[in-house]
Amino acid sequence: MNFDEIIDRHGTKSSKWDLMEKAFGVPAKDGLAMWVADMDFRAPEFLQEAMRGLIDKANYGYFCGVEDLYQAVGWWMQTRHGWAIDPDWITTTYGLGNAIAMALQTYTDPGDTVVTFTPVYHEFEVKIAKTGRVNLQLPLSRQDDGTYAMDFDAYEAQMTGAEKMLIISSPHNPAGRVWTTAELGQIADFCIRHDLLLISDEIHCDLVLPGHRHVPMHVAAPQIEDRLLMMTSASKTFNIAGARLGCVIIPDADLRSRYQAFHRGLDMNPNLLGVELTRAAYCPEGADWVDALTAYLAGNAALFNARVSEIPGVSAMPMQSTYLAWVDFAGAGMGREELHDRIYKRARIAATPGHTLGKGGESFMRFNVAMPRANIELACDRLAEAFADLQ
Ligand SMILES: Cc1ncc(COP(=O)(O)O)c(C=O)c1O
Repeated sequence: MNFDEIIDRHGTKSSKWDLMEKAFGVPAKDGLAMWVADMDFRAPEFLQEAMRGLIDKANYGYFCGVEDLYQAVGWWMQTRHGWAIDPDWITTTYGLGNAIAMALQTYTDPGDTVVTFTPVYHEFEVKIAKTGRVNLQLPLSRQDDGTYAMDFDAYEAQMTGAEKMLIISSPHNPAGRVWTTAELGQIADFCIRHDLLLISDEIHCDLVLPGHRHVPMHVAAPQIEDRLLMMTSASKTFNIAGARLGCVIIPDADLRSRYQAFHRGLDMNPNLLGVELTRAAYCPEGADWVDALTAYLAGNAALFNARVSEIPGVSAMPMQSTYLAWVDFAGAGMGREELHDRIYKRARIAATPGHTLGKGGESFMRFNVAMPRANIELACDRLAEAFADLQ
């Protein structure tokens, strides 16, 4: 477990490192990639061993035994999150983006409205648009400590009756809020009041920083069970997004049979790599690794947010989870073009522009801090230099 080790991902067909020049004009040669949500750390040894086990068999034919994966998922959810699940509730998918697109098509019709609390993971909006649904974006509000919260009073006035579904990110990408049990209960009641199905995308559930605790929606608000789709994956936690495996966990039998019927119609089976890596990750060693990882990420987040907030007019939102720093440049006194120019061209950092994450994100940039500490320091130095004239 050496998170300080720098592994050079240039030229490794990493989306984050090898597409930043094309996406933002950040030079591939000496740019720093802080956009796509994956981590720059070496894979843990127990995952390498799982891969070696596959290689040693020297055969990649059809496989069975997916039940072991379901057991591992159940063990992890019970041990880490106090959530008891029945293996029958699980359907594997080709990642959670795929799961959301399938859920939209299973339960809603083209033209239906789907609600999101913004800013939020941009692919919610993309999936809603690509499937021909309409996205109602309800902006999060700021609390006294600068973090986001839902503003249900404001939302009530905007609901029209055409809404069929709500998709939430819990914990929250991009701002790292860990929603409390009370907030999750309010979300559930909102769904019941407005007759909405709820997708609780909990892909970031393990990346909770020390001092905070994630509560699965099904645990926080069992009253929502008959309209709830839980979505989880080991992909963010163990940096195995390339293995493309997610879990859709649906406790309600009727809701589940509708999802599974659609899924069966596509004839989709899980892939060998995703099954092996996920099963291998959800183990006691994996739990120790995640504890060490989140402690390291907390150090990165504290350093990055403190340094970036030294720039006049710039403030980073306090982080409770994820490795995504959400930084507000509203007070820096410049338009989007100049802001991007300073970050992409002068600092040579690829970061995610906040407007792509929906209403309320316009003045923000999202920086992925899941990288060795030395690169965080380099990023902070480059940003300080790129905005030095504001001092
Ligand atoms: C909230 C959220 N959901 C889903 C995804 C993507 O999941 P997948 O790679 O499994 O499609 C991400 C990736 O950043 C995410 O942040």
